[in-house]
Amino acid sequence: MTDGGIGIGFIGCGDVALRTYAPGMAPLAGRATTVAVYDADPARADRLADRLAELGLPRPRIAPSLEALLADPQVVGVLNLTPAPFHHEVNVAGLEAGKHVFSEKPVAGTVADAWTAIDLARERGLTFLCAPAVMATNRFRWLKAQLDAGWLGRPTLAVGQYGNMGPAAWRDYKGDPAVFYGTSVGPALDLGVYILHAITGLFGPARRVSAFGGITIPKRNVLIPGREGQVVDVLAPDSLLIHLDFGENRFAQILSSFATPRSKAPMLELHGELGTVSISQETWYDTDAPVDLWRRDESPAGQEQWTPAVQPPSPRIGQLIQAGPEHFVAVLAGEEAPILGAAHAAHVLEIIVAAGQSIESGCAVETNVVG
Ligand SMILES: NC(=O)c1ccc[n+]([C@@H]2O[C@H](COP(=O)([O-])OP(=O)(O)OC[C@H]3O[C@@H](n4cnc5c(N)ncnc54)[C@H](O)[C@@H]3O)[C@@H](O)[C@H]2O)c1
Repeated sequence: MTDGGIGIGFIGCGDVALRTYAPGMAPLAGRATTVAVYDADPARADRLADRLAELGLPRPRIAPSLEALLADPQVVGVLNLTPAPFHHEVNVAGLEAGKHVFSEKPVAGTVADAWTAIDLARERGLTFLCAPAVMATNRFRWLKAQLDAGWLGRPTLAVGQYGNMGPAAWRDYKGDPAVFYGTSVGPALDLGVYILHAITGLFGPARRVSAFGGITIPKRNVLIPGREGQVVDVLAPDSLLIHLDFGENRFAQILSSFATPRSKAPMLELHGELGTVSISQETWYDTDAPVDLWRRDESPAGQEQWTPAVQPPSPRIGQLIQAGPEHFVAVLAGEEAPILGAAHAAHVLEIIVAAGQSIESGCAVETNVVG
């Protein structure tokens, strides 16, 4: 602990750290402080420290190495914001050093690695949480309570889609877009993961997975200023259509794509015996936006229409990604039970791995969920 509350260390000081996590620390002032930052590129660590100072927060120390950051006694918990291929090794290093860990997604490259780290955290009595923070947002906490209370009747079907052209086409992206089209990431681990956390967070674990997918647009011109002329080879399926079977005749369908120029489809729709919930793409990251609700009415004069359903206001952070570190701090402070446990992320990873196996084999793949 520091005078500013729980000491946080940033590992990886790139695009998401600078743009989203740093401003997300401002509302936590007094409860948590960034005491140290580390990046393999020291200039990036320096820039993040400047950014935190510009936000009126204390300027953190710049650790010269990962080991130095993890040896800092004021660092209680770390935010692992490195690129996906480094998540597992950094998570394990953090846990072995006795630090609580919040990891960006995916939790690891393989389900076995994810469980090695989860078991390590359990052995050491450490908190190990993982993005995306969908289920910790105000909107999804409320939605889960409403569904559990029978709002939709028995949930039967979920349909989601998250697609765009990927980071090569995000003109304001500041990181290296190539990694996202490689075999260690792809759209399911980068975008589909949000929908999968939402659906499995609300419906529970999936038992069977089947998928189609492939590389539909194999080369991408990079549109990011400063990287003009670069071309990225697409090495992993850039469009995946994933089907999930939850048992008891409950199903889901997810489109996850880096080959979708634009769409007006909702991000997520949940259907139940009594109605439908629809969440637009436009409000996906706004965690206080209403959802649209359609309630069935079988009475003779049946009044059925879309109505915006609003959750009670909350002082919680209103941006989906920033809800992750906020929840991490609340868990470390003993104020909340973990919602974003790494075991949930491991199940979502299992689904994505199974989708890849199904694409290869043409067969449905069972998950390891018992029952
Ligand atoms: N950028 C976004 O909007 C966004 C949104 C949600 C989630 N994420 C996730 O956040 C993570 C980081 O993404 P990003 O867009 O910030 O990438 P980025 O490439 O901009 O930043 C990653 C940073 O990590 C550093 N790094 C690489 N290996 C390291 C290591 N071993 N130790 C310490 N630092 C290391 C790099 O130098 C770089 O500064 C990814 O998992 C990504 O999926 C990003």
